[in-house]
Parts: sequence; structure tokens; C-alpha cells
Amino acid sequence: MAIKKRLFKIFEESSFCLRNRYLAKNHILSKPQGLRFDINYKIQSDSIIRIPGGISLTAGSVFETEVFLKGNIIMYKNGALHTYLDEINPLFPRFRPSPNDILNQSVLEKLEDENIHITEDMVTWEFDHIKYKLTFNPLRLEGFYKDELIIAANSKSLMNFEKYRPKGDENNINEVDVNFPIKIIDATQLIEEGEGGYKNIGNIWSEEYLDYIDEKPRGPSSVALDFEFFNASHVYGIPEHADSLALNDTKEGSPYRLFNCDNFSYKLGDTAAIYGAVPFMVSRSPALKSAGVFWLNSSETWIDIETLPQSKHSHWISEAGALEFFLFVGNSPLSVIETYTLLTGPAQLPPLSVLGYHQCRWNYNTREDLLEVSNGFLTNSIPLDVVWLDIEHTDKKKYFTWDDEKFPDPTSMQEILAKQGRNLVTIVDPHIKRDPDYFVHQDSENHNYYVANNEGNSFEGVCWPGISSWLDFTRPEVREYWSSNFDYSKYQNSTNNLYIWNDMNEPSVFNSPEGTMPRGNLHGNYEHREVHNTYGMYMQQASYQGLLKRSQKKERPFVLTRSFFAGTQKYGAIWTGDNAAEWSYLEYSVPMHLAIAIGGISFCGSDVGGFFGDPTPELLVRWYQLGAYYPFFRGHAHIESERREPWLFGEEALRKIRAAIRERYALLPYWYGLFYIYRTCGTPVIRPMFLEYPEIEECASLDRQYLVGSSLLVAGITKELQEHVDVFLPQGRWFDYHTLLEINAGQQSFQVQEDWIPVLIKGGSIIPRKNTPRMSSKEMLADPYSFLIAIDSNDSAQGFLYADDTISHNYMSGEYILADIQLNDFKLSYNLTNTMELENNIDEIMIIGLSRIPNEMILDIKGQKKPIDFGVRNNMIVINISDITISQNWTIEFK
Ligand code: NOJ
Repeated sequence: MAIKKRLFKIFEESSFCLRNRYLAKNHILSKPQGLRFDINYKIQSDSIIRIPGGISLTAGSVFETEVFLKGNIIMYKNGALHTYLDEINPLFPRFRPSPNDILNQSVLEKLEDENIHITEDMVTWEFDHIKYKLTFNPLRLEGFYKDELIIAANSKSLMNFEKYRPKGDENNINEVDVNFPIKIIDATQLIEEGEGGYKNIGNIWSEEYLDYIDEKPRGPSSVALDFEFFNASHVYGIPEHADSLALNDTKEGSPYRLFNCDNFSYKLGDTAAIYGAVPFMVSRSPALKSAGVFWLNSSETWIDIETLPQSKHSHWISEAGALEFFLFVGNSPLSVIETYTLLTGPAQLPPLSVLGYHQCRWNYNTREDLLEVSNGFLTNSIPLDVVWLDIEHTDKKKYFTWDDEKFPDPTSMQEILAKQGRNLVTIVDPHIKRDPDYFVHQDSENHNYYVANNEGNSFEGVCWPGISSWLDFTRPEVREYWSSNFDYSKYQNSTNNLYIWNDMNEPSVFNSPEGTMPRGNLHGNYEHREVHNTYGMYMQQASYQGLLKRSQKKERPFVLTRSFFAGTQKYGAIWTGDNAAEWSYLEYSVPMHLAIAIGGISFCGSDVGGFFGDPTPELLVRWYQLGAYYPFFRGHAHIESERREPWLFGEEALRKIRAAIRERYALLPYWYGLFYIYRTCGTPVIRPMFLEYPEIEECASLDRQYLVGSSLLVAGITKELQEHVDVFLPQGRWFDYHTLLEINAGQQSFQVQEDWIPVLIKGGSIIPRKNTPRMSSKEMLADPYSFLIAIDSNDSAQGFLYADDTISHNYMSGEYILADIQLNDFKLSYNLTNTMELENNIDEIMIIGLSRIPNEMILDIKGQKKPIDFGVRNNMIVINISDITISQNWTIEFK
């Protein structure tokens, strides 16, 4: 199908990006030493005041007497160093996403005074093996791990802070000179100076793009800084882009852009912005040390990356906001990512059912249609946990309402689904139809909850319902209001079986530049340009709070969002928006998910089958086979796509899709445990190879294979009629998950199988499973657990089991099972570190790769010993047990 593409800005069309890039280019390329802006900023040493965890300070340009920045630098015991600088007496306040919304206050324990040393010209923080050093003149901040320099902020002195200034003519130019000592005052001059390739992009007080003019009454306000990662071979992160996992050098191309936008059918292999933004980057070095940067800024941001002989250099340029960032250093990329993920988390532990399979399309047309689809899964013996309703289920796109003709009696519909063990998800978008009879519109107008246009009136734009306005989710009182709409009394005919989907929340505005809100719109005191990238996150936060309140905080919410920002992991899942039914989108889903997981958001997925267009049966099957290993696993399709329920493609395809989805369900105990660890330790659920094997060079840029946890390695089949899949297996033992045969480490070429994609189990793993196929995760609740044990070269293996009631928050007060499982010296032990009453049995233990078949096995429960049955089947030892539950300790000795 022909998809009409919307146009998005390229960096040459962004004046603040050009100004800062110009500074960088002239500095780095032609004037390495001695240029005025080479040492542009310094800290006033007499301004330093000791505060808990660090210092407060003022700073300014080294060439001017005027000091115009103030702020503080604080180190926390989690190892992160936090810098915040803002203008002194600014003409306008600068937006700062509230630390309470983004940051996890419980990990922000400040460093003690004795670890902080202040002298005339520097400050040092030292804790564990981590050290940060701030030098005052020039302003430079360095991070060390075990005394090795890993990262420096303002390393090449690209710091730039365009302070707000009054609009005037000559005065204005003088003012600008203070910040731009090289007298580049606006991008128009770049053309006059003959700088190659730049287009006329207007001046700093207004900017044209296509037919739109961005009036900038507040003038230029960009902030920029550079970070150098020493000895780094690669840098990763800054999702969301449809690009390779390892970030590329942008010297010859475009910087990576972070600007949430409805970039449907996005181009692949591109640095363009799409729906979400997480300004976090992490480095890998062969020496195993790693650093991270979290640039806490929610305005449009461009990031340049340059490979230098001994480092990776990055230049971060944001349109507005304060200059706020965190530095991290550690002994591995994984430790840096964990610290970041907990800092902006903790991630939500989802209700178990949403880790199952989701069936969606735009749209299931009627109540009968929806129930038929749900029944179709039953009759075809395919497990399913959640069915979805897109925008057409509402009364004229008024969210929180139902189209009564197509969906009469939605409550009974949800009850029927609930009996089948299924949840319903309905879509709730942020654009509010300006219909005088619509309660959300009435409330929002009456209380002034809408985002305002630049004249201070409710902004009006076009989205699905026609003329609409948008709630200002950046304001706490608006979020409070929004969350009240999920109450059963207001969202009529919703039940506790219903979860929520927040779409179009970049926000998407059809008749506005780049399909999003005009930058001059107002959120109270702030222009939209400042808050832009947080809009979707704040909406999801409000919806999450709504579901929480609805159940008096008893049940875990589930909210899927398209737009996201740093910290989104607290509120639910994300998906990668409008992909297409093409092999290349299947292929790119992996690096996209991995980058998003590095950005702290592990609960991610892509539309299985591809949103636009129609997949061939082969593509659809391959997509299910890989999708079964996406953290968020949902089939979805565009309104004009052919129907594609799994049974519409013939028996063969059905059989394979059924097998793929069942494989997902068998592994739900493993996934659930990984989500628990993700919540508690910040460890990503899906992991790029370099996270588990940072020392292995070959793993550094692998992004077509990945790990689920540390035990399962997955490689998709992403080409039509593909015959072989290349997979790299790091040193150690590996077993084919399907044949259970041992596979040698190193570069392997797998012959493609029709029925599955390559999945390998790492030797040394213990994987909890539930073996009985059922129709939903809820039907599996009482089922016994089994353990699949793959042995390493020392005849050992480790794993764990996490289990709880799957839906409430009681786990937070200790109601859960956590068991450490170890096989060492021919003894398998199951040790509870926390327990609750759960009656599930353990029925089967399967062991592959043990160096010898035992003669006898002795089960020991509380000192009661007895021999147990076991046999050998398809390369594995199978122990059948029936009388132990997961809430007791036991051992099995192999004689
Ligand atoms: C855009 C979303 O990305 C897509 O998933 C959805 O089906 C349509 N909006 C309609 O709501």
C-alpha cells in the first residue's frame, strides 16, 4: 500500500543545532587550541559552598565578568554524579522535568562530606572505586574508575548556554556576542560566510519550516555540552531510532535526533527521531570499564558522535531547558545500565498475564467480531491473554466511551473474556474531541486543563476525532484529573479486567509542523519546546495512576504507550509504533528493542506481522517465532490490512504459530523472574551480547542476536527463504533449545528450520518452565513448575525461581517466593530466600549435558531422604517428582 510520508526536520533545518555544531566544527577541526571558546566557561572558586553530597556554585564565561549560571553538583552512593546548572535571574524560567517524576528518590542517598574534597581550584568525590573530579577553570568534570579516566564532560569545551535575552537590535547582538565569542549570531550568517551546504533557516527570533513559522518570542535558549568516553570502543543507547545498536559516527552524516514524533513507517538505518526519547548513552571498552551519561533534558536534542583515536566523543545539543545531567562510571556496561535504570525506575513488575500473547488490530469491528476472535484462539488451541480494541470502539473517538451499536453491553463482553482468562485493552488517546457534550472536554475547558496556544487560549488542532484539544499532562493537577477518569463511575462499562493503551501521545497533531504540537504552545509558564519529550511519559504516568486508584492501589496496572521518555519503565510497556509487513522491519526490531532496553525500558515490543501492509505466511510465521521472544508480544495490523488471525494462513502456518506462542507460555516463569530482577536490580530483561560478554570484541556490535536474561540466546530469521543463520556463541557450552544437542562455541551457521528460529541455552543455566499447554496464563496458575538444567563444563548450573500472586502489590510487602537453585558437585539444591504459601508442585527436572548418568538420585526434604525415579530421554536426564511444592526447600543428590 502507498503510505504518505510526513516530512521531518533534518539537522540543517534546525538553527540551534547548526549554531552549536558550528562551534564544535570550528573548534575541533580547525582551531584545536587557543580559540576563545576553547575554555569558555569557568566556575567562580569563591562561589563554592559545601552542601550535602557536593557543592553549589556559580559559573560564567571566562571572558566576561558576568556570572550567569548557578547550580549544584552532587554525588550519590549509587555512584552517579548529578549536575544541574540554570541561569541566575532568567528572563523566563527554564523547564526541568520534576525530579520526583523522573528520579527514584530511594536511590539518591548523598555521599558523606568526608568523601568530598574541596580545594581552590577543584572538587573531588571518591567512593568505592569511583572518583569524579571537577576543575574550575576551564570547567571540566571527569569520571574515573579504579583511577582510570573513563569520561569527561566539557572535554572539548563545547559547553554552550544561550541565556534568555531581551529582543532588541544592536543590544541583542551585543548580548549574543557574550555567548558566541566567535560572532556567529544566527544561522543566516553561516550562508553569508560561505559555510558549505547550510540552508537559510531564518534567524534566532523566528524560524521557518515548510509552511510553518516558529515564532520564538523568547529567542535562542539552547544548551549544549560534550562528553568524551576514553578508551571506549563503542557507545550505545539514546533510543528511539530505527538504527544499528552500536551508535555510528555522525561526522559525515546527521546527528542522532531525539524529538518524539509520529514518524510512521519510519526509515530504517536512520538517525531520525521517532516516537520516544531516552537521552542516556553508555560506553564499552575492551578494558571492561564503562561510563554513562544521562542528559536530563526534554526539549529537542541532537547528538553527534565522533570516533577519535583513543575515545568516542559525543556532543549533546538541546533546544531549551536547564543544563542537567548525570555521569556514571563502573566496571562494566551492565553495571552502568543497572544504575541508570534504577535511578529512573524502578521498573514496574507487570501483572503476569501481560507477558502472555496479545491480539490486536485496528479494529475489531463489533462485539461479535472481538468475541469470535477470542473464541478462535480457543478452538485453534492457541494461548492468548489479552484482546485489544483500537479507536473505532469509541463513540466518535471520544475516549472513555463506547460505540453502543458496535459494542453493546461492554461489561458483559469483558465478563465473557474474563471467563476465558482474558483481559481487554482499550485505547485512550490524548486528543480530546471539542464536543460540548463530551464530559472530558467540558471538564478540561472548565478547569483550564488544555495546553494553550501562544496567545494563551486552548490550543486546537486536528487528530482522529477532528478538531481537538490536548490535556496538559505536564501539570500535576491535570494528571490527577485524568487519572480520575479511570474510575468505574466515570469510565462507564469498564471493569477491572480492562487495561489501557495510550497512543498518539508524542503528541501527534495532524495539521502542525512535523505532525506534533507547535513549539510555541504554552504549558503554564513553559513553552512546548521545553517539555516536548516528556508529554507522552506524563500521559502514561497519569493513566497508570488512574488504574492504580481504580483498584485502591491493590492491582498492578498495565498501560502501553507509544511515546516515552527516561523513566517510562515505571509506568508500563512501549511498542515501536507503525512498522510495516516487510522483512527489514522484522530484522530491525531487534536492535531497536535492545537500544530501548539499554535505555531502561525492557518491556518493549514491535507489532508482530508488521502494522502497514500484509505479511506473507512465511513472514508472519517468522515474526511470531521471533515475537515470542519480545518482552511485549502483540500482533497488530492497520485498518486497511487483510485480516491476519493465525488460523487464516492454512494448517502449516497455524501449527507453527501455535508452537511459537506455546513456547512463549512455557517460558513465562522464566520471563516473570527476569522482570522481577529487572525491577529490583535494574538488569535488562533482554540483553545485547556485549552486556553479558563485554570482554569479547566480536560481541560488541552484534545486534541480530540477543539474550533473554543470561540463559537464552535468540537469533531471528529475518530474510525470505533464508537458508542459514549466522550466530556467534561465546566461549562456554551451548545447547540447542529445540534439539537439546550441544553446539560448539564460536561462529556457527545454523541451517534454517521451518518450525523454529535458533534459540540456544547457555550451559550453566537453570530455566523454570511450565510444560502443560493451556489457553491463557491464568489457566496455568495452578500448574506445576519444571526446571530445564543445562550443565556447564564443571557439571554445574545456577538459576532461580520467582513467583507471587501475579497481580497484586503484595509482593512489595514480602509475599513472594524467591528460590536460589544450584547444581554443584552432583547435588541439586533448591533454597528459598523468601517464601509465601503457594501450592504449585514441581513435576519435572530435565538435565542436559551432565558428564555422567547417575546411578541413583536421593531426594532430601527436611532431612527425610528417599530415592526418586529418573530416566534418560532424548539426550536428557528426566527426573519425575510429584510431592514437592515450590514453597519448600529440598535437595537431590546424584549418586
Ligand atoms: C497509530 C498507532 O501507532 C496504531 O498502532 C494504531 O492502530 C492507530 N494509531 C489507530 O489508533
